[in-house]
Amino acid sequence: MPSDAHVPAIAGDVVVTGAAGFIGSHLVKALRQSGRNVVGVDRRDMGVHTGAVPAPEEGAFQARTGDLATMDLSSCLKGVDLVFHLAALPGVRPSWTEFPEYLHCNVLATQRLLDACVQAGVGRVVVASSSSVYGGADGAMDEGMLPRPTSPYGVTKLAAERLALAFAARPDAALSVAALRFFTVYGPGQRPDMFVSRMIRAVLRGEPVEVYGDGSQIRDFVYVEDVVRALLLAGAPARHPDDRAEVLNVGTGSSVSLNRLLSLTAELTGRRPDARYGPTRVGDVGATTADVSRARDRLGFRPATDLRTGLAAQIEWTRRRTDGPRRPRTAPGTATTGRRA
Ligand code: NAD
Ligand code: UGA
Repeated sequence: MPSDAHVPAIAGDVVVTGAAGFIGSHLVKALRQSGRNVVGVDRRDMGVHTGAVPAPEEGAFQARTGDLATMDLSSCLKGVDLVFHLAALPGVRPSWTEFPEYLHCNVLATQRLLDACVQAGVGRVVVASSSSVYGGADGAMDEGMLPRPTSPYGVTKLAAERLALAFAARPDAALSVAALRFFTVYGPGQRPDMFVSRMIRAVLRGEPVEVYGDGSQIRDFVYVEDVVRALLLAGAPARHPDDRAEVLNVGTGSSVSLNRLLSLTAELTGRRPDARYGPTRVGDVGATTADVSRARDRLGFRPATDLRTGLAAQIEWTRRRTDGPRRPRTAPGTATTGRRA
């Protein structure tokens, strides 16, 4: 689990939606390592957690497999005070052609979960939002900016975020909400459709790396353990009435281009990436950089992993999976969609 003296102890059982996913599986691991009992909800298989060898301090894990938009949620939420809602259909590019599925997973499922949380008297919901709600911007993106998403995915994430805030504002709800706008998350177990995963896999196999555009687009890449720490910090009950409905960026505050990432990967692997440049994808923003001052001030969040260290960890993780004997899925985030972007 990410070490941080300021990460609050979280009491009681915790629900994590999207527990079989990249970020969700890291979060489940951190919560269990801190002794929390976790109920993981996902429509994909979560055997990866239930089969884990328990360390003495580990909390229990209960897997509930189902679709949030249709499954019975009341039994998952009974006696639960804190929900981390990470389940969604992520990925910017396929959202142009698969919109009904994005609506189902990102909007309908979120509305249903929030409604069930109000009925169950859940105290706090932390929702995974996205930098994609901003659209393009010239400088750092701050939470006061008018969101102008440039992809259907971004529109559904904005809808999910606003739904959460609307539920928190209901006078009959005991609910407080933190919507965390993650920037581009990377690290061991990263979704296989994302650039860093694809680049590392291709370089290690000696295959070409497909770059959409000229590689000058920049991203604020944030390491998954830092994101988990932000989630844990946000899981603490709201301290102040103003904190009942918060939107907070989770990034690093600095960004690099894909071309810089390719050079760094060359340095770390000793292999020169064979970059093949092609057309820019519709809806892709040119630049993302997080203004992280609000998360720092409100949560005490400070990203701890620099890009070189994080990238080296993801390279090493990929190498072990590529070189090692074929094993059943055992590492965080190995349950992945494999969808094409
Ligand atoms: P992921 O695809 O690895 O995990 C999402 C999980 O949600 C999957 O296991 C999926 O099966 C589950 N899910 C989707 N729809 C569901 C439904 N209807 N019912 C039950 N389970 C469902 O994605 P991730 O990269 O771990 O992203 C987690 C969250 O963070 C998402 O909300 C995503 O939009 C957000 N986010 C991710 C990034 C990033 O860079 N990875 C950046 C910004 C925001
Ligand atoms: C990522 C996640 O996929 C979204 O879930 C998340 O919401 C979003 O971050 C966010 O920041 O909010 P994206 O930045 O598009 O979206 O991340 P990648 O899919 O890794 O793409 C990064 C860049 O690499 C994009 O410019 C993309 O066009 C490019 N790319 C991607 C390639 O050049 N080649 C590829 O094979 C894949």
